Amino acid sequence: MRELKILAVLIVFTLITYIGIEPFAHSQMSPHTAAANFNYDQEDTDLAKVRIEEAKAALAKAEDKLAKKTDDENLAKAVESARQELEVRENDLNAYQELWMQANAIAALEGNAENGAELFAACTACHGLSSQGFESPFDAAMASESYGVAVPDLSLAGTVYDKKFLAALIINPTQALKVSKKFNDENPLPMTPFFGFGEDVNQETADIIAYLRSVAPQNVSGKEAFETACLRCHDARYDALYSPTEKSALKGYMGSNPPDLSIMIRSRLADYLESFINDPQKKLDGTAMPRVGLTKERTEQVISYLEEVGDSKKDERTAVGIGMIIFFAILAFFAYMWKEGVWRELH
Ligand code: HEC
Ligand code: HEC
Repeated sequence: MRELKILAVLIVFTLITYIGIEPFAHSQMSPHTAAANFNYDQEDTDLAKVRIEEAKAALAKAEDKLAKKTDDENLAKAVESARQELEVRENDLNAYQELWMQANAIAALEGNAENGAELFAACTACHGLSSQGFESPFDAAMASESYGVAVPDLSLAGTVYDKKFLAALIINPTQALKVSKKFNDENPLPMTPFFGFGEDVNQETADIIAYLRSVAPQNVSGKEAFETACLRCHDARYDALYSPTEKSALKGYMGSNPPDLSIMIRSRLADYLESFINDPQKKLDGTAMPRVGLTKERTEQVISYLEEVGDSKKDERTAVGIGMIIFFAILAFFAYMWKEGVWRELH
C-alpha cells in the first residue's frame, strides 16, 4: 500500500507542476493579448484606442511624479515625452479612421478587372506579375540596393492578401503596413501610394484589386503563401528557402535582422504566431516587422507550413509518447508484482 501512496503523491505533484505552474509562468512571461482579428478595420482602430489609453495612463503617472518633485528636470522631460507619445497615438487613430473609411468604400465597389489590367501599369514600375508574363523590372540585388528589400511578385497577391487590406495598402502603404514610426515624408517608404490616373481613385483602386484577384489561382499551398508574403525578409533554411534580399541591405532597411523561421513554431507556438502575423504591433509594440495583411485562411496555411518545416515529427512524437506511457504502466505493474512476490517469501 505504501508504494501506491508514494505513487499517488508523485502523480499529484507532477500534475500540479505541469498544469498549475507551467501555464501560470507562461501567462506571466507572455501576457495574453486578444486573439487575432482579421477584420483589419476594427483591429486597427481598436488597437489605436488601447494605445491611447496606455499613453494617457503613462502621462498621468509622469505628471503625478512631477507634482511631488516639481523642480526635477528629468521628471519634467518625462512628462513632455509622455505628452508627445499621447499625441502620436491620437494622430494614429485619426489616420486609421480616415484610411479605413476610404478602404471600406473601395472594397464596397464593384471592380472592373479589364480596366484594372491597364491601371496595373502603376504597379509594374516596381512589381513583377510572373504568371501574366511581367517580370519584375528589378532583380533582387538591384531592389536590395535601391529599396533595401526585394520587391514581391504579385501573381498570388489577389488570393494571399485580404481584399480590404489591399485597398488600404494601395492608397496608403505606410499606414497599412503600420510602419509610420519609421517612414514619413522625409524618409518615405519605397512603395509609393497610388494617386490614380485622374478618374475616381477609389474606382481605379477597386479595378486593380479586381485584376489581381482575377489572375490569382483559387488554391495555393502554405509554402507558396509563405514565398509571397514572408520570403522577401525571412529564410526557412530547413526547407532550403533563402530570402533573395541581401542581408546587409535588409538590416539597414528594417533596422533589425528578420530571424530564420525554420523552427520558430517550436519557440513561439501556433497561437503566438497567429496573433503576431495578424498584427505584429499588438503582440510586440514597436517591433520592426510590418503588418502583412494575410487572410485568415492563408495565415493558418503559413503556420501549418512552418509546423511541417520546423516540427515535422510532431505526430510521430505524440504517438511514441502514448506508447511509452503504456509501456511504463505495464512495467510498473510487473515490477510491483515481482516485488510483492519477493517480500512474501521473506516474511
Ligand atoms: C516604387 C515602387 C513600388 C510601386 C510603384 C508599387 N510597389 Fe508594392 N511594394 C514595393 C516594395 C519595395 C514592397 C516591399 C515593401 C516592404 O516589404 O517593406 C512592396 C510591397 C507590396 C505588397 C506586399 C505587402 C505586404 O503586405 O506584405 C503588395 C501586395 C504590393 N506591394 C502591391 C502593390 C500594388 C497593387 C501596386 C500598384 C498599385 C504597387 N504595389 C506599387 C514597391 C512598389
Ligand atoms: C518586410 C519584411 C518582413 C516581412 C515581409 C515579414 N517579416 Fe517577419 N519579421 C521581420 C523583422 C524585421 C522581424 C524582427 C522583428 C524585431 O526584431 O522587432 C520579424 C520577426 C518575425 C517573427 C519573430 C517574432 C518574435 O516573437 O520574435 C516571426 C514569427 C515572423 N517575423 C513571422 C513572419 C511571417 C510568418 C511572415 C509572412 C507571413 C513575415 N514574418 C513577413 C520582417 C518581416
